[in-house]
Amino acid sequence: MSSRRDFFRRLTGMGALMATSQLPSWAEDNPALFPQRGGFERLGMNYVAINIGLETPFSLLHISDTHLTAAYPHENEKKQKLKEVRSKTFGGRQEEALRDSLAWAKQNVDYVLHTGDIIDWQSEANFDLVKKYFGRELIGAVGNHEFSTDMWLSNPKEDRTEAYKDNTRSLVQQAYPFDIQFQSQVVNGVNFITLDDVYGYVTQDQVDAFKTEVKRGLPMVLCMHVPFHTENTWRVTCKFWGGNNRFTNAVVPNPNGDYKTQKTDSVTRDFIAYLKKEPLLKALLAGHEHITFQDEFSPTAREYMVAGNFLFQGQEVLFY
Ligand SMILES: [Fe+2]
Repeated sequence: MSSRRDFFRRLTGMGALMATSQLPSWAEDNPALFPQRGGFERLGMNYVAINIGLETPFSLLHISDTHLTAAYPHENEKKQKLKEVRSKTFGGRQEEALRDSLAWAKQNVDYVLHTGDIIDWQSEANFDLVKKYFGRELIGAVGNHEFSTDMWLSNPKEDRTEAYKDNTRSLVQQAYPFDIQFQSQVVNGVNFITLDDVYGYVTQDQVDAFKTEVKRGLPMVLCMHVPFHTENTWRVTCKFWGGNNRFTNAVVPNPNGDYKTQKTDSVTRDFIAYLKKEPLLKALLAGHEHITFQDEFSPTAREYMVAGNFLFQGQEVLFY
């Protein structure tokens, strides 16, 4: 356990947000999906503004869930099968969506945040794309798909535990230039915390690291893959993923999956209750559900979820 804490400490000098000034200009090398539209309308953008009372305002592009589905010809049969099937699922233009997003960000905002599921499953080609587009600068949080060796073909099966992650944790860590478990970066006096909550829960080490960050006394923004569900985020999640059902009943659907985990795992449940009383927490940024939605999380913080980047979606977040 203490070795993990040392790990956090070792990486605290690294960035948690990618400065767009450091992005190369892919737009010039690669025509965008909408070449006649120039530097705008390449994305379906949502805009949110967060008032923290800053002296120096700034903005970032928040994207999530790109679900890259690349595999090299020399990679095994499972990877080839997944490339075929999952490229159809996500439209096959995910790399363009990511490239257009970053080109847009370079012109329009100061930082980029990616909240996970950049890749759909592990492959050499997918990890090479992560390195190509984000180099040593990316930031963000990993998603559940970062740990998926082969989706439904995975062996051992994905059992949504730390032990499952341990099988490939170092492989994932090598591809992503931030501490995949917990990372802090201060931007213009705002402490951005990114952490791995990909199966809905957090660990005691992450809670301890967060509480250490609170002591710095800075306003905080929590960035992660799976939202910390409220009744409303759960309602829209069930509406979106539940298939064909009109909204005729406002009763909150029974918690299952991540929401049930967040209500039953004691470390996570206590952490969420603690966050709701932490006045330094100003916002939560999440993905995973492929829905753009926001809701009140606590008296001082709203939670903002962004839809899938594979659909050319993103949100510009203004901090002022
Ligand atoms: Fe996800």
